[in-house]
Amino acid sequence: MEQVLKLTGRIAFWASVISSVLVALVSYRFVPLGVEIAMDFVSHNLAGNSLALFAHIAVAPVALFLMPFQFMSGLRRKHPSLHRWVGRIYVAAVVISGVAGFQLAFHSTAGVFASAGFASLAVVWLWTTLGALYFALTRQFARHRDWMLRSAALTFAAVTLRVYLGSSMALGAEFQVAYPIISWACWMPNAILVETYLLMRGRRSYLLANQTR
Ligand code: HEM
Repeated sequence: MEQVLKLTGRIAFWASVISSVLVALVSYRFVPLGVEIAMDFVSHNLAGNSLALFAHIAVAPVALFLMPFQFMSGLRRKHPSLHRWVGRIYVAAVVISGVAGFQLAFHSTAGVFASAGFASLAVVWLWTTLGALYFALTRQFARHRDWMLRSAALTFAAVTLRVYLGSSMALGAEFQVAYPIISWACWMPNAILVETYLLMRGRRSYLLANQTR
């Protein structure tokens, strides 16, 4: 059973590495194509809100691209200073693109429910990432790891959003109906999954500690 769980974990990890890197790279399609062609439904931000738009679409993919490498324990052990530098860039990217994402949320054409979903995501993304930074700076590394896991689950919303949006469009759902739901569904289950994992892990180590007494 332990082996099956380990293998499932590895497959899930590598699937998330590949999908994060791919979504991050594809996000730069606006460079050769322009925002109007590459991502038409956010192009209304070009008039009067272009700073937030570019701060978000140019910087958020950096966070998504870097995030999985921070969880590679071999890399972290071999190159601790690289881990710290990549961590600083990740936090800076989250702060810039999170604040910009919060601003963009209120310009979404999909309505108040979608705005609330994205704005809440931006707030919890900034909170968990700055929390993780605080625990690293105060050398509470176990808590730093847990809070970075929370932050990463929210960064991964960029991937889950595109999976849900693509699937709902393929199933013939209407954009104006699907998108507001997805603005919440792209991150809530990710956050719940991480909290469940952290709770189960805490319970398991408590049981193990009491067994060996
Ligand atoms: C986790 C916090 C995030 C929040 C709160 C957020 C928020 C938003 C908002 C509000 C929009 C505009 C949607 C609309 O007008 O309806 C948007 C678009 C976009 N976001 Fe994010 N975002 C987040 C994370 C990311 C990440 C990690 C990436 C990395 C790839 C990303 C890349 C993009 C891109 C490329 C667009 C343009 C439209 C598209 O291609 O889908 N975002 N985001």
